Amino acid sequence: MRTQFIIYFLLLIAVTSCKEPVELPPKEEPFELKAPVYFGEFNNRIPEDNPPTEKGFQLGRMLFYETKLSGDNSMSCGSCHQQQKAFADGLAVSKGIDGVAGQVSAMSLVNMLWSEKFTWNGRMPSLETQSLEPITNPIEMHESLENAIIKLEEDGYSDLFQDVFGSPEITEEKIGKALSQFQRALISADSKYDQKLRGEYQPTQQELRGEKLFFTHPIPGQLRGGNCGDCHLGPLTSGAIDGLQGFHNNGLDNDENMDEGLMAVTGDPKDRGRFKTPSLRNIALTAPYMHDGRFQTLEEVLEHYDQGIHQSNTLDILIIEGSNENQAAGERPQLFLSEQEKEDIIAFLHMLTDENFINNPQFSNPFENENN
Ligand code: HEC
Ligand code: HEC
Repeated sequence: MRTQFIIYFLLLIAVTSCKEPVELPPKEEPFELKAPVYFGEFNNRIPEDNPPTEKGFQLGRMLFYETKLSGDNSMSCGSCHQQQKAFADGLAVSKGIDGVAGQVSAMSLVNMLWSEKFTWNGRMPSLETQSLEPITNPIEMHESLENAIIKLEEDGYSDLFQDVFGSPEITEEKIGKALSQFQRALISADSKYDQKLRGEYQPTQQELRGEKLFFTHPIPGQLRGGNCGDCHLGPLTSGAIDGLQGFHNNGLDNDENMDEGLMAVTGDPKDRGRFKTPSLRNIALTAPYMHDGRFQTLEEVLEHYDQGIHQSNTLDILIIEGSNENQAAGERPQLFLSEQEKEDIIAFLHMLTDENFINNPQFSNPFENENN
């Protein structure tokens, strides 16, 4: 009798607690983010209040390509972040809906799970906040969030928000969350270099030399190196993840004409000219280069690091101390690479192109088929 009563009681609790629908993001259909172990742990970098789900990813993908988010319905995130260009736009500096050019180059969107600060000067503390900024930015999509939300409601998006978040209201927080879910899934890990790391591709001698030079810190007379891996770390080839450690001054300008960089965020003069070290994945597809798009080719980039460094008070110690020859203190830092060595490094950079990433149908514009 007693056990029967307990069972009955438990059933009663179960039934009554089922009645009240609780507002929680749906737990079903989780979206599995897959990445090679050599990228490092990432689950701890997904915000607890925005776990990836299949429906969240799909909503984020629609919003990413949704032109209604812009003032004149002409531009989406995908206008400046184009999949075929590894989510950059091929311009030195981006132009928004009003044709006004910004100060900086659109960043390639890739492997952002391994990044804590966003934009060139690091002013955005999370992907969720960064994802809303371009919508309201007057020189980008130039739309108010209130208007954007009204347009999404008129377009029938409320049902999709209901499916993903358990309630139909469209809010900026939810837009930011969905866009982030899509962007966190933009993982590029199938380049020739990854295939090499998995033992599926046998690199050429030149590619092997380039890889070695890229990751070697030179010791004059003993070890030749290109010193790139000092800042573009490991297989991700991006800056250190934690805090602001991945921000460096790589010698683009001298003190007189230097952009503020990280100093605009911290106010610290020691941060002048320090910028986010970008990932070099798919770099062959994202010319022109640097935050202001000043270099047209990878050859020009190599010339810069080899013999074009500008000295300044904040020039990075890793550049000052990275040379293949003994340089006198105060002398302008140079790498002293041979032509062959520069070509080798460029061959390695080409290994980082991931055709499957730029052609992955999951990341493409879902509205494009409608127009065709
Ligand atoms: C007009 C062109 C343009 C549009 C439209 C645009 N972006 Fe960007 N995006 C940029 C530029 C330029 C930067 C670099 C900004 C900076 O450093 O100040 C950038 C940077 C970013 C970054 C930072 C990446 C990193 O590694 O730090 C993210 C994320 C991003 N954009 C997402 C988006 C999303 C989401 C949208 C749509 C809501 C969007 N962008 C719309 C041009 C654009
Ligand atoms: C001291 C750290 C440091 C070293 C060493 C370094 N880089 Fe960079 N790299 C950066 C930073 C920071 C940026 C972004 C600078 C900017 O745009 O203001 C950058 C930008 C780049 C870019 C342009 C990326 C883009 O999206 O526009 C390329 C290409 C590049 N580096 C390649 C290399 C190569 C090749 C080497 C070795 C020869 C190297 N880097 C050495 C820190 C470094």
